[in-house]
Amino acid sequence: MRTALITGSGRREGLGFETARQLGAEGFHVIVSARQLEQVGPLAAELADQGIEASALALDLLDHASVTTAMQRVNAQFGKLDVLVNNAAMMVGSPGVAEKDMDELLLEFQTNVVGTWSVTQKFLPLLIASGRGRIVNVSSGAGSFWDPDYGLVNYPGFEMERFGAMPISAYAMTKTALNGLTLKMAKELKSDNILVNAVCPGVTATRPGTEAFARPVADGAKGVVWAATLPDDGPTGLFFRDGKQLPW
Ligand SMILES: NC(=O)c1ccc[n+]([C@@H]2O[C@H](COP(=O)([O-])OP(=O)(O)OC[C@H]3O[C@@H](n4cnc5c(N)ncnc54)[C@H](OP(=O)(O)O)[C@@H]3O)[C@@H](O)[C@H]2O)c1
Repeated sequence: MRTALITGSGRREGLGFETARQLGAEGFHVIVSARQLEQVGPLAAELADQGIEASALALDLLDHASVTTAMQRVNAQFGKLDVLVNNAAMMVGSPGVAEKDMDELLLEFQTNVVGTWSVTQKFLPLLIASGRGRIVNVSSGAGSFWDPDYGLVNYPGFEMERFGAMPISAYAMTKTALNGLTLKMAKELKSDNILVNAVCPGVTATRPGTEAFARPVADGAKGVVWAATLPDDGPTGLFFRDGKQLPW
C-alpha cells in the first residue's frame, strides 16, 4: 500500500489534515503528524471512521529526537515512504522589515526552512526505498519574486489595503528559501526517482473569519494532492498552484 506522511496535520481546519483526507480517499495509508500525539490521535480515528487507513505520529520539526523517532516508527511499520508532504510552517506575527523581532525571524526560518530540510533528510532513505518517492513542499505565492501580491488580487472580496497594512516579509522570505530548497532537492534526488515540487495552495480559509476572501480548504489541498500523486514522468523542481506552473 502507498504511504503518505503529512507534517503539521494536527488541526482539523488546516490544509495538512485535508490533504491527508484527500490522499486517504485516493487509497494511501496516511500518517497524520503534529508536535503532540494528542493532537493527531483523534484525527486519525476520524479518518479511520471514514474508511481511510490512517496512523497518528508525533513529529516536531524543531526536535531532532522527535524527527528520528518518527522516522524509526514509519520504517518499522512500512519500511518505506511514498509521499512526504512538508506542510508544517509557522508565522510569528506580521511586523515588516523595520519592526521585525530577530528571534521571531530565526524561529520562522528554523521551522519553515531548516525544519523542513531536517525532516526531508531524515526520511530520505524511506523515500528512496519507495522507488518512486514524491516530496511536496507547501509553499506560498508570498515567496515568489513574480507574485508580490500573493496571487490575491484576483480573489473576489480581497481587501488589498487591509492586507497591505500587515506585511509578512519574514514568512514570505522563508517561502522564497523553501522554493530554492525545492530546486536543490529536485536536482539532487532525481537519480533516486524522487519528484520534488513546491505548491502554493492559494489563499485558503484555514482560520475563522477568512472565509469571506479565501477559498475552501478542500480546494487549497487539491493542488498539493496533485503534486503528491504525479506520474513517474511528471515534473520536478517546479512551483505550482492548482496544477499550473508558477514562475519563481
Ligand atoms: N492558509 C493559507 O492561505 C496558505 C497560503 C499559502 C501557503 N500556506 C501554507 O500551507 C501550509 C498549511 O497552512 P494552514 O493554513 O493549514 O495553517 P496551519 O493549520 O497553521 O498549518 C501549519 C501547521 O504546522 C504546524 N507546525 C508549526 N510548527 C511546527 C513544528 N515545529 N513541528 C510540527 N508542526 C508544526 C502547526 O501546528 P500547531 O497547530 O500545533 O501550531 C500547524 O498545524 C503552511 O505551510 C502554510 O505556510 C497556507
